This record gives sequence, structure tokens and C-alpha cells, in this order.
Amino acid sequence: MADLSVHYLGLKLKNPIVAASSGLCSTAEGVKRAFDAGVGAVVLKSLFEEQLKAELSSISQDQLAHPEAEAFLAGMGMNEGADEYLKLIGDAKQGKVGPVIASVNCVGSGLWADFAKRIASAGADALELNVGYLPDDPSEAGSVIEDRIVALVAAVNAAVNLPIAVKIGAAYTNAGNLLQRVGKAGAKAAVLFNRFYRMDVDLDSMSLSAGPMRSSPEAYHESLRWIALLEGRAGVELCASGGVYDGLAALKLVAAGAQAVQVCSAAYAKGYGAYSAIIEEMNNWMDSRQVASLGDLRGRLARRNSDKPELYGRLHYVKALIGQG
Ligand SMILES: Cc1cc2nc3c(=O)[nH]c(=O)nc-3n(C[C@H](O)[C@H](O)[C@H](O)COP(=O)(O)O)c2cc1C
Repeated sequence: MADLSVHYLGLKLKNPIVAASSGLCSTAEGVKRAFDAGVGAVVLKSLFEEQLKAELSSISQDQLAHPEAEAFLAGMGMNEGADEYLKLIGDAKQGKVGPVIASVNCVGSGLWADFAKRIASAGADALELNVGYLPDDPSEAGSVIEDRIVALVAAVNAAVNLPIAVKIGAAYTNAGNLLQRVGKAGAKAAVLFNRFYRMDVDLDSMSLSAGPMRSSPEAYHESLRWIALLEGRAGVELCASGGVYDGLAALKLVAAGAQAVQVCSAAYAKGYGAYSAIIEEMNNWMDSRQVASLGDLRGRLARRNSDKPELYGRLHYVKALIGQG
């Protein structure tokens, strides 16, 4: 059997498949089921900034940015969501089943650095900062948003000793530059990419409705492009997320340079057994090709290791357009 073990966020994982943050990992039972299915690590469902803020609405923004915000939090009593979240971390770690990565959805308030300390005390092995933010104000410059993300990472990194991953969406002008900046601010890894709530409209009722909840298997190409392009050039480890439904997609992402591969929609579609199926297919492929360890495969198709790096920069099918391919 091939050696699928990897190092991600300073943790040794028995394989690179990570149960991505979602409702499937929002209870200790869900976490146990993911580990039983063989994953190398689990990211807990995100605690959302709104949950943390819920009971703090009477505190001014100035106070929230205060270095002693923790005292405010303690004084006010954490809201139920936050308290429950800390308990979930403890419960998830209790079975000593494997690495548990906590996740918080932050849009930039001063709350997280202090709350991160509590997450560390509760026993999390690492922290994923889900920096999902919808810029719905056209007058807000992209640089302002990126500066806020970098400042957030620096603040959390200064507050805790935990390894930090930053999970971003796919829409940045230059994702590599943002990753270099968060790496310098203390992040050890970046997760490419989050999938945000899809919106739809209902023409009959002329109202907004929810779009499809799950990704499709095609989604992994987006992550693959950026991981192949940025592996070894962004100053952070890269973790894939999006559209991984089978072991071959996971192996492709590793060949592109992914240190770990997160899976969510496939487990919603097929149950926790989706994780085992992916791991089994990876093992079978490695054995059939006599690839002894994942380390022999990782990054082989990254731009950094290519003698034709220009191929990775193609945005359009230039050859097809001019009739040569
Ligand atoms: C129902 C659902 C809930 C999710 N909840 C979270 C969450 O709380 N925090 C987070 O960072 N990502 C969340 N995600 C995003 C997933 O972790 C993952 O990054 C994304 O779905 C892409 O992977 P996939 O194609 O395997 O689904 C959620 C996704 C789904 C479908």
C-alpha cells in the first residue's frame, strides 16, 4: 500500500483528504464519522462572525477593537453559539481521532484575535480563517479589502501559537500576491477556494431564491489552475478545495502541488463513505503505477517544476483561436 501521509499546517496527516468545513463537521458525531471514513484531518463548521457578535451588539466598534476585547467578551458572557463552538472543539478532540482544525468566518472585526486564544485553549490543532466577504459596495477598493485580510491574519497570528490557514474565494485580482502577503503576516497555508452560497431568482414569485448548494465535479479545475501556478511561489502551503468527487481529482491536485485536499460536496452527495472511496481510489492508482509515496507525486505538474511555464499563463485557447490546435 502506498504511503499517502503528508504534512499540512505542521501536522502529520495519514492522507491528504481533509473533511472540509460544513454542517457535516458541526457535531462531534459528524467529526467521528469523517475520521471513521479515513480522512487525514477535519475542519469544523465555521463559527460565523455574526454568531460571535450576536451578544455584543451593545458594545461599540471602538471597544471591539480594543486590545482588551477578551475582557469584554468574558464580561458579557460569550453567546451560545461561541460557547457551543468551544465545546465542540473539546468534544471533537476527546476521541483523539485525528487533527481537528477550527474555522472562523471573519470579515474583519477585532474580535477574532481574542477568540482565537480560546480556540487554542479548547484544544484545536490549527485554525482556518474563512475570510469570505462579499464586496457589495463598488466604491470599496480591492486593496482596502486585502489590507483588512492581511491585518486580520497578523492580529490572529500575534495572539496565538496555532498554525493558521486562510481560506479565500476565487475572485481576487492577483491571488498570488494576496497569499504572499498573508504568508508574511503569519499564515502557514491557504485554502483555494471557498464556495459561497449561490443565489438564484424565482421568476414566478419575483423573489430571490437559493442556488445549488453543492459544487459540481468541474469545480476542481479552478483550484487546480491556481495551485499549479502558485505552488512554491506564494510563501504558503496550498490546500485544494472545490469539486473533488473522486481519487483521481485529488491526485491531480496533489500533482499540481496541493499539500492537502478538502472534500465537502461529494460527502453531501454520497455520505461520509465518499471520503473512503476517494482515499481508496488514490491508493489503487498509486499501487497500479507503483508510486510509493505521495511525496513522489506532489508538485510534479506545478509551474515551478515545468520547462514550459508559459503554458500555465494561458487564459484563452490562443492556438484554438488561430486554428492551430
Ligand atoms: C452546505 C455547505 C456548508 C458549508 N459551510 C462552510 C463553512 O461553514 N465554512 C467554510 O469555510 N466553508 C463552508 N463550505 C464550503 C466548503 O468547505 C468547501 O470549501 C466548498 O464547498 C468547496 O468544496 P466542495 O466542492 O468539495 O464542496 C460549505 C459548503 C457547503 C456545500
